Amino acid sequence: MTSSLSALDNIAWTPPKLSVIVPTFNERDNIAPLIEKLEKTLKGTAFEVIIVDDNSPDGTADLAKDIARQKAHVRCIHRVGRRGLSSACIEGMASSSADYVAVIDADHQHDESILPEMLRRVEEGADIAVGSRYSGEGSSTQGLSKRRQAGSTLATRLSGILTGKALADPMSGFFLMPRSLFNEVAPRLSREGFKILLDIIVSANRRRGGKLVLAEVPYSFRPRFAGESKMSPLIVAQFLGLIVSQISRGLLPTSFLLFSLVGASGVVVHLAMLTLAFEVLDFNFANSQLVATLVAMTSNYLLNNELTYADKKLRGRRFWTGLLSFYIVCSFGTLANVSVASVLYEANLANFLIAGIAGAVMSVVFNYAVTRMFTWR
Ligand code: GDD
Ligand code: MN
Repeated sequence: MTSSLSALDNIAWTPPKLSVIVPTFNERDNIAPLIEKLEKTLKGTAFEVIIVDDNSPDGTADLAKDIARQKAHVRCIHRVGRRGLSSACIEGMASSSADYVAVIDADHQHDESILPEMLRRVEEGADIAVGSRYSGEGSSTQGLSKRRQAGSTLATRLSGILTGKALADPMSGFFLMPRSLFNEVAPRLSREGFKILLDIIVSANRRRGGKLVLAEVPYSFRPRFAGESKMSPLIVAQFLGLIVSQISRGLLPTSFLLFSLVGASGVVVHLAMLTLAFEVLDFNFANSQLVATLVAMTSNYLLNNELTYADKKLRGRRFWTGLLSFYIVCSFGTLANVSVASVLYEANLANFLIAGIAGAVMSVVFNYAVTRMFTWR
């Protein structure tokens, strides 16, 4: 009896050696010409292109599927209700069955013609090949604004400290590695933000006991071919969160740090509102405090929804039920805060300041843990 697997033997089929993952959000006009460029440069290598699209309003996924109907080496992962560059790259790589996986931007800013060289370096033993905008003849001048360049330099320094690897362009979103290495680190990767390579390097380097071998292949960063960049202040905040999270070795997840940051901003909002209501509008203290609390909770909710949980953003009806659950959880959080602080203070275990801080930390931890269960599931 022939198994269904061996029946496949009759079909002409070369398994791909390399999967090229292309994350997309509103890149409709970029993908067809990019695939052509990849075909040209990877001629002779069995490769496939995996477009991971987050249901772009411009119909990138539809177009990608049209192309996939014509080309056996192109497919599309169409994600609905989710956003995020890192998680898109992770899903694309996780769907690969090739020997090697690469990630490249859709907008032609990364020079695809260095892919064969990147592949060669990894075949020769490097763990990860990084397309680098700065090293050697690679130049960063064409594609980045002055401000982006300054930010990029700072980020490079920070991540040098973090990884202990002298890498010219750790912010690169252009890299290639064996699929087996990806599988090793995949469970540890953060799904948030833009900086997936940095995250991969840190995790892989730990697994290799600090002996990870990186190969940098220089290229010149090009201006975007079509469409617009998705970089934003939000992405930068997520990046800083990732760094701190990495320094704490994952003990503090990025989302917890962002949640705490938002909580701190809530204190400022609270005090500002309290002053306004009490001093300017002449409300009595209890009412002023109530208004300030509501406004601060609402602003915390909005910020967390935009920033901390950008990947699970609540919309429509779920936005309102989420807000309600957030109010409820925070009320219990306040209760936790006050009880912990009072117990510590009254049992003479801490002075008033320490007790107050312990209470505040308690409520942040409580609110974080519980809103993850009920609000942003
Ligand atoms: N699926 C998906 N979901 N793709 C996304 C998302 C998302 O939420 N956000 C961005 N992308 C895709 C874009 O469509 C593009 O193909 C690629 O990710 C990079 O996005 P850009 O918006 O072009 O980013 P950039 O050019 O500002 O950032 C570049 O430089 C950074 C370093 O400064 C990229 O190369 C980054 O990877 C790099 O880290
Ligand atoms: Mn870009």
